[in-house]
Amino acid sequence: MHEFPHRPRHKAVRPGRRQRHSLYAVAAVLMVSGLVWLVAHYALPLPDDAARHPAEPWAMRIHGAATLLGMAVLGALWSHHVLPAWRAGEKRATGLPLLGIWLALAVSGYGLYYLAEESWRDAADTLHVSAGLAMPLALASHVWMQGRRQKKGERPSSGPHPLSPQSKETG
Ligand code: HEM
Ligand code: HEM
Repeated sequence: MHEFPHRPRHKAVRPGRRQRHSLYAVAAVLMVSGLVWLVAHYALPLPDDAARHPAEPWAMRIHGAATLLGMAVLGALWSHHVLPAWRAGEKRATGLPLLGIWLALAVSGYGLYYLAEESWRDAADTLHVSAGLAMPLALASHVWMQGRRQKKGERPSSGPHPLSPQSKETG
């Protein structure tokens, strides 16, 4: 099989508007539902005879639905954004921590579901809540901090990447 020389292989693609908005929306729902659970669990007084606050199961129902969407959004970004941007070497300093946090949330969230032993569950809980609180900061720094090439006044997604064969062509 031959390669198509005109096809850029290393282009750092800015996620499209719909992908960006889906990501910000799902991140906000995850964050808010997680925070509501924390407040209901640790801070709100229990109604009479209740073993837990009624807001807790609701927060987790919404949270659980959002985790499925969150992983779908990450999957959509994977081949069109994360891999090409990584190969191009742009914004790795903020992209890698964001990716790591997202994966840590998925792994520790899985642990919260299935780990039975208390010390392991506690470890998953601590990791999950820490990564959850760090996620909006990591996302904000990734979105707002400029990458190496952007600092020099060049926008990565505008035009072909220098590693791409297309950059040698005109038009
Ligand atoms: C190592 C992994 C990653 C690298 C190297 C990377 C790199 C980049 C680069 C270079 C841009 C600027 C693109 C441009 O303006 O043309 C960007 C933007 C963006 N990235 Fe990543 N990224 C990574 C992981 C992620 C992950 C895991 C997410 C989401 C969970 C993400 C979400 C975004 C979003 C939403 C933007 C658009 C920001 C905006 O301009 O409004 N990235 N990334
Ligand atoms: C990709 C992102 C995320 C995934 C995949 C995820 C996944 C999960 C899962 C599977 C659970 C267990 C649900 C249950 O026991 O019913 C959970 C619980 C929880 N999540 Fe997340 N989550 C994410 C983001 C967040 C964020 C951003 C926060 C913000 C603080 C957060 C806070 C919490 C809290 C407080 C719990 C309850 C902990 C416990 O039961 O002890 N999560 N999450």
